[in-house]
Amino acid sequence: MSDQAQELRNLIKHQSAVQGERPTRIITVTSGKGGVGKSNFTLNFALALQQKGFKVLIFDADIGLANIDVLMGVSSPYSLYHLLKREKTVWDIINTGPQGLQFIAGGSGFNDLIRLSEEQLDYFAEQVGQLNGHVDFILFDTGAGLSKETLKFILAAQETIVVTTPEPTSITDAYAIIKMVHSMDYDVKFRLVVNRVLDWKEGRQTADKISMVAKQFMNLDIPTIGYVMDDSSVSKAVRKQVPFSLAFPDSAAAKSLNELTQDFLSNQMPAENQGASVKGFLNRMIRMLKP
Ligand SMILES: Nc1ncnc2c1ncn2[C@@H]1O[C@H](COP(=O)(O)OP(=O)(O)OP(=O)(O)O)[C@@H](O)[C@H]1O
Ligand SMILES: [Mg+2]
Repeated sequence: MSDQAQELRNLIKHQSAVQGERPTRIITVTSGKGGVGKSNFTLNFALALQQKGFKVLIFDADIGLANIDVLMGVSSPYSLYHLLKREKTVWDIINTGPQGLQFIAGGSGFNDLIRLSEEQLDYFAEQVGQLNGHVDFILFDTGAGLSKETLKFILAAQETIVVTTPEPTSITDAYAIIKMVHSMDYDVKFRLVVNRVLDWKEGRQTADKISMVAKQFMNLDIPTIGYVMDDSSVSKAVRKQVPFSLAFPDSAAAKSLNELTQDFLSNQMPAENQGASVKGFLNRMIRMLKP
């Protein structure tokens, strides 16, 4: 191990010791198939968590596509790109959306993430390490499918929400991504969200299909967080560029998402089953990014 890498690890250790009282939980949101509603889910889930008193930061990890900011109608002058170029600090690249929701745009920065010099990696880790204790949750909204970058976030975060719809193609792709990640790393904890359900029964049946196959073939438990109703308010809200839970708080989608969030908070995973803290996340990320 180089001196620099050792120094970096010491720094991370030190930071989490200092700020350790309120650990930040890191969760990746992903899907097999694209367009299943990850970004809308991430945004409105984050807002629901905020309304329940938690502080949340969304990291838009969808390469090249500025999704989250478009959904909020907020522009983001700086992104991860400026951090990696060492032009800005982590605090400079945090943008604020509705209800004080914080987010970081990925922009083209993710393409650079895989070829960072050791010096850039130091800066990245030192800066992102400062987020520890700053918020309760960091949610990574990823692109669909298993790109190299998405995989890194899933493996580093260790806690992943897989979004699917009841459509058979979405179900098989969700299963495929779980299987692929599981074959590489047994420690990643998966949970399901079924989006666009017509009723609770359809949600449960969809979740059962995935969890039963996962149990049978991988001996893997995949709990379900909950369901979000299929609702035309979502598409209306996307067009208005206002998150659906704010534009249509009484809609079926907003109500079901609120219940889902309540269930998420009351069925918290035991500490030993939770994903990474910022420290664990950075340690794993650095290991994967090191040339
Ligand atoms: N619960 C819902 N009810 C009805 N329509 C929905 C719902 N969730 C998502 N949609 C529709 O699906 C579209 C895509 O949603 P979103 O952009 O969140 O998907 P995504 O998984 O992030 O896509 P990508 O894979 O491209 O990142 C929305 O614009 C909306 O029209
Ligand atoms: Mg998206």
